[in-house]
Amino acid sequence: MQRKPLIAGNWKMHTTIAEAEKLARAICENGIPNDREVMVAPPFTAMKAVSGAVAGSGILVGAQNVCWEEKGAFTGEISPVMLQDAGCVMAILGHSERRHIFGENDTLINKRVAGALKFGLVPVLCIGEKLEEREAERTFQVLEEQLRKGLEGISLKSADELVVAYEPVWAIGTGKTATIDQAQEVHVFVRSLLRNLYEKNIATGLRILYGGSVNSKNVDDLMGQEDIDGALVGGAALDSTSFSRIINFK
Ligand code: 13P
Repeated sequence: MQRKPLIAGNWKMHTTIAEAEKLARAICENGIPNDREVMVAPPFTAMKAVSGAVAGSGILVGAQNVCWEEKGAFTGEISPVMLQDAGCVMAILGHSERRHIFGENDTLINKRVAGALKFGLVPVLCIGEKLEEREAERTFQVLEEQLRKGLEGISLKSADELVVAYEPVWAIGTGKTATIDQAQEVHVFVRSLLRNLYEKNIATGLRILYGGSVNSKNVDDLMGQEDIDGALVGGAALDSTSFSRIINFK
C-alpha cells in the first residue's frame, strides 16, 4: 500500500508571531512537492498567523497539544474547537517533552487522543523509549505499553484519522539519530502492533513517522526505509532552508 509521506515540523516553544509568520512564508515560497504532505506546529499564539501565511500552499497546521473538552474550567488548556478556529487540523500528542517534563501519562494522553478525534483533529501520537530503557532492552515493552494505552478504546474508520510518531527520547535534540536499522526495526514492530489493534487496511495505511535529530543530511536515508512514512522534525524545522530540504527528501 502506498502511504503518502508526511513531513511535520514541531516548532516547540520557539518563535514570536512575527518570526513564525516569516518562517511559514519562507517554507511556502520554497514549494511543496504534491506527492507528500507537510505540517507545521507553531506555538498556539502564532497559529492563526501561520494559518494565514500558509493558506493555499497545501501546508497543514498542527497543534502541540490539545484538551479533550470543547470549553470550560480547564485553566492552561486549549480546546480542539479553539484550535480549529485558528486553522488547525492535527495535534501532536504524547510528545516526550509532555511526558517527561510535564508528567503526562498514558491515561491523560489517551483522553487527548480521543478528544482530538471526537472533534475531527488528526492526532499524531508520539511514543518513544528513554536511553536507560533501551539499554535495559525494554524498548519494545515500553513502546507497546505507550501505544496500547494511548490508543485504548480508540476506533478508526480510516487510516487518515491517526498518525503515529516514533521518537526515541535519547535522539531528541541530542544530534544522535537512531541508526537506520534501529528505526526500521521499531517501525516494523509498531506496524505489527497496529495490526493487532486495527483491521488490515487501516493498520497498513497508518503512517508511522520517525523523529529525533532528523536533518537535511540524514533524511534521505531515513525516508528510504520501507516502514518510515515521514519525519517529525524539531530543531531543523526552525530554519526554512533545512526544513525545505527535508520536505524535498529524495
Ligand atoms: P529534534 O529534531 O530537535 O531532535 O526534535 C525532535 C522532536 O522532538 C520533534 O517532535
